[in-house]
Amino acid sequence: MSVYEAIRQRRDVRAEFTGEIVDDATLWRILEAAHHAPSVGNSQPWDFVVVREPTTLRAFADHVAHKRTAFRETLPPERAAMFEPIKIEGIRESGTGIVVCYDHSRGGPHVLGRATVPETGIYSAVLAIQNLWLAATAEGIGVGWVSFYDPGYLAELIGLPARIRTVAWLCIGPVHEFQHLPDLERFGWRTGRPLAEAIHHETYRG
Ligand SMILES: Cc1cc2nc3c(=O)[nH]c(=O)nc-3n(C[C@H](O)[C@H](O)[C@H](O)COP(=O)(O)O)c2cc1C
Repeated sequence: MSVYEAIRQRRDVRAEFTGEIVDDATLWRILEAAHHAPSVGNSQPWDFVVVREPTTLRAFADHVAHKRTAFRETLPPERAAMFEPIKIEGIRESGTGIVVCYDHSRGGPHVLGRATVPETGIYSAVLAIQNLWLAATAEGIGVGWVSFYDPGYLAELIGLPARIRTVAWLCIGPVHEFQHLPDLERFGWRTGRPLAEAIHHETYRG
């Protein structure tokens, strides 16, 4: 699969997991792709915690369900009705969670390129996620990013040292299919915008 094909096929997956578990060799290749990402000062500030223990998956899924309810309660009635059928995670169905973590101390005190823009560390971890997501797509493996959680809760659940923060919980597993459209478009929540609207010339107003 070409990189353009992988970019086009990639989807945030929630409902299409088959229930099978991604095998270790495939998971290793996907994580190798993540580990090849560019990083500020070559600091490679990421760690990947692979979670398969059913009790941990259930605990996290219950926590996320509470956060989903809390979000729904903030919505006006029309938006709440639209949100209702939208699935926001596939934690148990995927059978594998990967918690992508960020360590600001990785690379020592003089990370080349991070002095002026501290967020470049987090940007690097996110690039690892994108590599992982595209590699998984090329392998026919689905990925779903879950951010409906309290970072302190997740840190405790997986035993993170205080200096390390979570960037994402990724649900990873074999899928029946990749949808052609993002779920949020299919369910009428929000559609994308044309590329031409995102491109500016010379200045932001241009
Ligand atoms: C930083 C980030 C956080 C996200 N968090 C969630 C989430 O908590 N639950 C969810 O269902 N999707 C989540 N998504 C997936 C987006 O909703 C999805 O990427 C977007 O609707 C576009 O769909 P696509 O990825 O299938 O193209 C997240 C995506 C990103 C990049």
